[in-house]
Amino acid sequence: MTRLGYGNLLILALRVLAGEVNAFLNLSLCEGPRLAVRTRVSRPRSEFPRTAVHVGGGKAPYSFRVLPPTPRLRRTDRVHKTRRSFSVGGPRLRVPTLGVSFACTVDKDPMKAAVITRYGSPDVVKIREVPKPVPAAGEILIRVRAATVNRTDCGELRAHPFFMRFFSGLLRPRRTIFGLDFAGEVEAVGAAISSFKPGDRVFGMCPSRSNGAQAEYVCVPERTVAAMPAGTRFDEAVVCEGAFYANAVLKKIELRAGHKILIYGASGAIGTALAQLAKSSGAGVTAVVATRHLDLVKSLGADRVVDYTVEDFTRIGEIFDFVVDAVGKTSFFRCRKLLKPGGIFAATDLGPWAQNVVLAIWSSITRSNRVVIPVPGRIDGFVGFLKSRMEAGQFRAIVDRKYPLAAIADAYRYVETGQKAGIVVIDIAAADESA
Ligand SMILES: NC(=O)c1ccc[n+]([C@@H]2O[C@H](COP(=O)([O-])OP(=O)(O)OC[C@H]3O[C@@H](n4cnc5c(N)ncnc54)[C@H](OP(=O)(O)O)[C@@H]3O)[C@@H](O)[C@H]2O)c1
Repeated sequence: MTRLGYGNLLILALRVLAGEVNAFLNLSLCEGPRLAVRTRVSRPRSEFPRTAVHVGGGKAPYSFRVLPPTPRLRRTDRVHKTRRSFSVGGPRLRVPTLGVSFACTVDKDPMKAAVITRYGSPDVVKIREVPKPVPAAGEILIRVRAATVNRTDCGELRAHPFFMRFFSGLLRPRRTIFGLDFAGEVEAVGAAISSFKPGDRVFGMCPSRSNGAQAEYVCVPERTVAAMPAGTRFDEAVVCEGAFYANAVLKKIELRAGHKILIYGASGAIGTALAQLAKSSGAGVTAVVATRHLDLVKSLGADRVVDYTVEDFTRIGEIFDFVVDAVGKTSFFRCRKLLKPGGIFAATDLGPWAQNVVLAIWSSITRSNRVVIPVPGRIDGFVGFLKSRMEAGQFRAIVDRKYPLAAIADAYRYVETGQKAGIVVIDIAAADESA
C-alpha cells in the first residue's frame, strides 16, 4: 500500500481532471491492495454496485460493503461501513474522507473482461480482471461463450459521431465493458426469474446502457434473452445486433410480400440480416455487393445480385418500392431514380455530411416520407422473434472472423476497416482454454 504525499496528491488531482481516475480505481479493484485514494473517484455505477470491497489502510484497516441498488434507492446506493463514511451517489463513487490512505481488494470472484475506460483507438481496449457481476432479482447471469465486436461498439469506442457522448458519457464511457450480442449458458438467476435455470443455453442482446458481453460473464434482464435454437453453436447465435437494426428498417418501411427492395451493401451485419429478413417477408430482394460477396448474398436468397465494382447499380433498369443503404456509402440523390413514385429511401447511417438526417427531417416536415433513418425501439420480444426465424431456417449467422478475448483489440481494428462480411465473433471459451 502506498501513502500519498502532497506531490502525488497533486498528480492524482491532475489525473482526475484528465479523466484517468476511473482506470486508477479499476486497477486497484483488479489487482489487489495497492491503491491510495484521497479524492472524489468516479466509477461507472453499473460496474461498482453489488461488489463487496475490503478497505485497509495505515494502522487501522477497515472494510465496507456496497449493496445492490434497490428500486427505492436508485440515486444513492447503500454502503455498509465499519469505521469511515463512504457513499455511492448516482453514477459516481464518492470517497469524501480526503486525506485517508487505504487499499482496496475485491472479495468477489474476478472475471476477465475487455475493459474500456476512455474513448480512443482500439489500443485503449484492455483485458483486465474485474468483479464478476451478481444478478439482481429480474436478471440472469450468463457465462458468455461467444460475443461480437460490431460497428456500434466501434462508434462507442471512438465516441463517433460526437453526439453519441450525450448517451454514452460526455468525457469517458459510462459503461466500461462493451458488446451487445452474447451467447452462453445461464450461470445463475435472480429471485424473480422462473423461465430460465442454470445450464440453459441462451442468446440475446445486452441493453446498451449497462455493461456488455465482451467478458466472461454478463448480467442481463430476462426480457432480452431467449433459449438458443436446438443444434445452434454459440458462435452462430451472436446475431442480434445487425438483425435488430435490419428489423427496425423493415418495420419502418412496412415491407410486405410482393414489395421490391434494393439493399445497397448487403454484405455487412445489417445488410446480410436485411436480405434474409426481407426475403422471409416474401419481398423481392436485389442485393448490391462487391464481387467477393456475390455467392454469399445469393445463398441468403437474393433474387438478383449486382456487383457494384463492375456495374453502376443505379442503371440496372429496374425500379423499387424501397432502396436501403445498409452501409452508409451511397445517397438518396444517387438512388432516387431507382425509386417508384412514393418509394422510400432508408439509411442506417448519417450519410455524407449528415445529409440523411437533414433529408429525413425535411421528409418528416413535408410528410413526403421519402427519406427515413429508422431508429430501433426496445429489445423486448425481438430475441424471441429472431429465434423463431432461425428455427424456421429463415435466418442464420454469417461469421466472418473469430478472435479470442485476448485479441479483441485486433477484432476492433478489423471491424473498423468496414470490410467485414456479416459478424466478427469473440470466442470467450478460447480465452478460457488459453488461460
Ligand atoms: N442506425 C444505427 O443505429 C446503426 C447501428 C449500427 C451500425 N450503423 C451503421 O450502419 C452501417 C452498416 O453497419 P454494419 O455493421 O452492417 O457494417 P459492416 O458489417 O461493417 O459492413 C461492412 C460491409 O460493407 C461493404 N461495403 C464497404 N464499402 C461498400 C460500398 N462502397 N458499397 C457497398 N458495400 C460496401 C463491405 O464489403 P466490401 O468492402 O467488400 O464491399 C462489408 O462487407 C455502418 O455505416 C454503421 O455505422 C448504424
